[in-house]
Amino acid sequence: MNVLVTGGLGYIGSHTCVKLIESGMTPIILDNLSNAKPEVVQRIEHLVGEAPLCYFGDVRDGELLDSIFATHDIDAVIHFAGLKAVGESVIKPLTYYDNNVNGSLVLAKAMRKAGVNSLIFSSSATVYGDPEHVPLTENSPTGAATNPYGRSKHMIEQCFTDLQKSVPTLSITLLRYFNPAGAHPSGNIGEQPNGIPNNLVPYITQVAIGQREALSVFGDDYDTPDGTGVRDYLHVVDLAVGHLKALDKLNVQDGCVAYNLGTGQGYSVLEMVAAFEKASGQQVPYNIAPRRAGDIACC
Ligand code: WQD
Repeated sequence: MNVLVTGGLGYIGSHTCVKLIESGMTPIILDNLSNAKPEVVQRIEHLVGEAPLCYFGDVRDGELLDSIFATHDIDAVIHFAGLKAVGESVIKPLTYYDNNVNGSLVLAKAMRKAGVNSLIFSSSATVYGDPEHVPLTENSPTGAATNPYGRSKHMIEQCFTDLQKSVPTLSITLLRYFNPAGAHPSGNIGEQPNGIPNNLVPYITQVAIGQREALSVFGDDYDTPDGTGVRDYLHVVDLAVGHLKALDKLNVQDGCVAYNLGTGQGYSVLEMVAAFEKASGQQVPYNIAPRRAGDIACC
């Protein structure tokens, strides 16, 4: 099975490509390296014994997409490519809507032209906004996202839902991730964002290795047990397995279906720091900083 993996050199994409190859499938990667490094291709090769085919380009490049679909007999697409930092999206909304929404529309058009009918979309729990009730289920109301990142993901979900209604033979799965964390057990691949990490766990790891002075905890006055933000952190390898399960489902279901990918258990920022210190034996100094725009107390 040939799977076009947009953003396949990124954090979740690379872990998913390892699992695809280990399962006998063939990922064809498209990545613009905006948040990934080219050496990830060799790191994947080191893990699975073969270097995945990789196109270095942008999902918004319709001509490139057309040539990839014309060159390879693509059976399904896993669409990871997109920007994904809540705080950053508040500062750069146009960049987020262009990359995430426009990129998804260009991809969908290319898929329609090529007659590729199976799509897994990397969505996000941020489409639920600031939930009234937790834990969230797939039937929880969406659309009240509190930041441009979440709103972009919700818009794309709507676009794909409407597209599937207009072409019933399409099979689309929306995977709503909570908070991916961790790394491949080998340590060969993991989360290594370009620049200053926006997300909690890579920032903690960079403090632990001395690359950053201290963690800024964005607010300790939320309505949570210790006042810091609560999120559902799931291991990135479990998340990768979830994509293979979704591929299996694509073969047996039409329609546009959403699945939450999380553990159902939330942990606060300070609990994550304490757990990381316990697991690593490494101190993680932190200071309490103002809340970050777009953040919510608990998801
Ligand atoms: C987690 C908590 C921050 C950094 C993520 C992804 C997004 C989506 C949803 C997949 C919050 C706090 C963070 C720091 C901190 N996932 N924090 N200091 O905002 O929940 O969004 O999950 O689609 O792609 O970004 O994750 O890791 O940024 O924040 O105190 O330096 O850690 O306030 O409470 P978030 P995050």
